Amino acid sequence: MNPKHIEFPVLGAKWFIGFTALSHTAVASLAIGFAFIVTIAQIIGYLDKDRSYDLLAKRIQLFHVCIYNIGTIVAIGLVFGLSGLYPQFWSQLFVHQFWTLILEEFLFFLLATTLTFHYFFWDHLWGHKKLHIFLGALLTPLFLLQFYLINGIGGFMLTPGFQEGQASLSQGILGWDKQAFYNPSFLMLTLHRTFANISYGGFVVAGLCGAMLFRPNSGAIKACYEKGGHLSFAVAFIALLSLPIVGYFYSYVLKYEANEAFVNLMWGKGDVIAGGIDWWWIKHLCVAGMLGMTLTYFWHEDTADSRFSMPLVMIVTIGLFYLIFYMSMGMIMTWKFFWIMLAFALIGGLLARHLVSFHKGSPRALYVLVGIISFLTVMLGGYVREASRPRFVNRIAHYDKIYTPAERAPYLMVDVDPRTIPPPPEAIEKPSLAVQLIRQKCIGCHTLERVRNYRLDNWELIVDQMRAYGLKLATTEAEIIITHLREKQPY
Ligand code: HEC
Repeated sequence: MNPKHIEFPVLGAKWFIGFTALSHTAVASLAIGFAFIVTIAQIIGYLDKDRSYDLLAKRIQLFHVCIYNIGTIVAIGLVFGLSGLYPQFWSQLFVHQFWTLILEEFLFFLLATTLTFHYFFWDHLWGHKKLHIFLGALLTPLFLLQFYLINGIGGFMLTPGFQEGQASLSQGILGWDKQAFYNPSFLMLTLHRTFANISYGGFVVAGLCGAMLFRPNSGAIKACYEKGGHLSFAVAFIALLSLPIVGYFYSYVLKYEANEAFVNLMWGKGDVIAGGIDWWWIKHLCVAGMLGMTLTYFWHEDTADSRFSMPLVMIVTIGLFYLIFYMSMGMIMTWKFFWIMLAFALIGGLLARHLVSFHKGSPRALYVLVGIISFLTVMLGGYVREASRPRFVNRIAHYDKIYTPAERAPYLMVDVDPRTIPPPPEAIEKPSLAVQLIRQKCIGCHTLERVRNYRLDNWELIVDQMRAYGLKLATTEAEIIITHLREKQPY
């Protein structure tokens, strides 16, 4: 029997989710970069006593307030869509991460208020500039924290890691599961997304400045956008440079923890290919093109403000480094990949040179182009990451194979014959104090499998060792645990 479910017209459930998720990403991913650049521009303006930086910061923040609203509302659409179309999704996630999401919501509140106050009290706080800068500077770490929380959940969907979600399974529904949160790909996802967001935000700000430079402006306003372009392009470029390196190690984690996703990405399989096109390749073409363009920009750029320029030797070194990087990518993917990336980097470089000389030395067209390409890169990166992994919930859920919490099964909208669900072990019904202690204390650093697989009988030594590793345990608690383990009782 197939459960009846809601279907989304025309787009279908899957593409509706994909579409709202990407629309949200397009906007939300700008937040960290925008907040960061606003703060930097405000600080430079304050130190240099240069009002044009402050004016620039204010314009960026206005834009930010506008898109923040849109991004949040799209996120609500995504939550509604998931709830109706994949009802299992939240019910499974909440088992592990209810409190994470509640905290996330609280941060949303803090961010929305801080951002709004920061923009609308700009002029009122003119006499308290340091306070105003501080208020704006709060946004970056708050966004990072919010991001950190959502990455624990996103990482878990890609690499369930300790798959059984030990804490929630053995102790009932806690709404928080440390091991699920700090899953194997969590750190790499966080690093990669952080730098990607700073880079994306920076290039989009530069792109907006470039677009404004096309309009006839007074000299002062023009100078303001020129400065904004130089500043944000430089910030974005530095963040961009870290990405292939972080990405390389990220894929290394995937190779061992999410092999299916790794194979799909590297050799173009599964949903990574859509409409006959390998979107992971296209994403890399964008990155290679951007590297060529940005390096050429810094090569030819001699700005009056030497703060944002770079010596030639550094540019050549970076270029060589990335050549080696793409060679090692070529070894994993194909040599064809290497040659085509090299070609795109060169074409990007030539195009950048042409655009700058065509506009008589003004990089405005280049800013706009790189802004657009960086947008495409983020979209494609988000798409392939989600498309490469096995579906988290798929109505006939892949995920269910590794995860059917007995206490949850009656509520899941999956086609499960109740008779096939194993009855919960006796211990789960009424766990003794010893069992409770083991389940609470012994899962902090490894799963209970580690304890169950241990064959020797020196539990006193083992528990002492665990305390030396940092386990907080009262001596009476230790004794209870040791006795239980020594008697080979189940837990
Ligand atoms: C603070 C972190 C931490 C906590 C909490 C913890 N362990 Fe461990 N445990 C470790 C580490 C680290 C290792 C791996 C040691 C190694 O590989 O040499 C380990 C390994 C083990 C092993 C395998 C030892 C071996 O030689 O193979 C057993 C059994 C074990 N732990 C039992 C427990 C029990 C029982 C508890 C709860 C009382 C517990 N652990 C709680 C950190 C912890």
